Amino acid sequence: MALKELVILKFGGSVITDKSIPFHVRTETIDQLSQKIAVALQTKEMALIIVHGGGSFGHPLAHQYQINKGIDPSIPNQIFGIARTHHAMEDLNRYIIESLIANSLPAMTFSTFSSFFKDLNSNVKITCGPQLVAALSHQMIPVYYGDILFAENGNARIISGDEIILSSESKGLCRAKMD
Ligand code: IPE
Repeated sequence: MALKELVILKFGGSVITDKSIPFHVRTETIDQLSQKIAVALQTKEMALIIVHGGGSFGHPLAHQYQINKGIDPSIPNQIFGIARTHHAMEDLNRYIIESLIANSLPAMTFSTFSSFFKDLNSNVKITCGPQLVAALSHQMIPVYYGDILFAENGNARIISGDEIILSSESKGLCRAKMD
């Protein structure tokens, strides 16, 4: 099936949250973004993927549990911290989805944790399954977010929204499957 222009839009963490206040979400800003997207989609046909960052939800916990160091048994409660970081991202994601849905946009969360992994050189790989292809072809809006994930060697890693976007395969692979 032919794909319309694919646009991948990032909501930066410092836009959708106040990074100086832990777990502070900017709901009005998120609503403004949703409204602008709704207007844009009325005038321009495109396949849209939204990716959002962690802001004051993911970052403080990732920092607290030093997830950037990978799994290290000397860091207290780090495995629990990985779960908490992911959970905080789910909380933030909920605000985004609520707002998009409230603006009549068919947005649906796609799990970064399950769709991406990093190889041994920290290159990002995406599993571009039939769900993503089908969702895009039905004009749904898949929403990914910066998250924690496991690398090929089983170690924990953080994946940023920018890495999701920049991973060349996220565009290339999906396009190839849809053409
Ligand atoms: C961070 O994502 C995700 C976690 C800390 C789990 P980003 O790095 O993309 O977040 P922002 O946009 O810089 O806040």
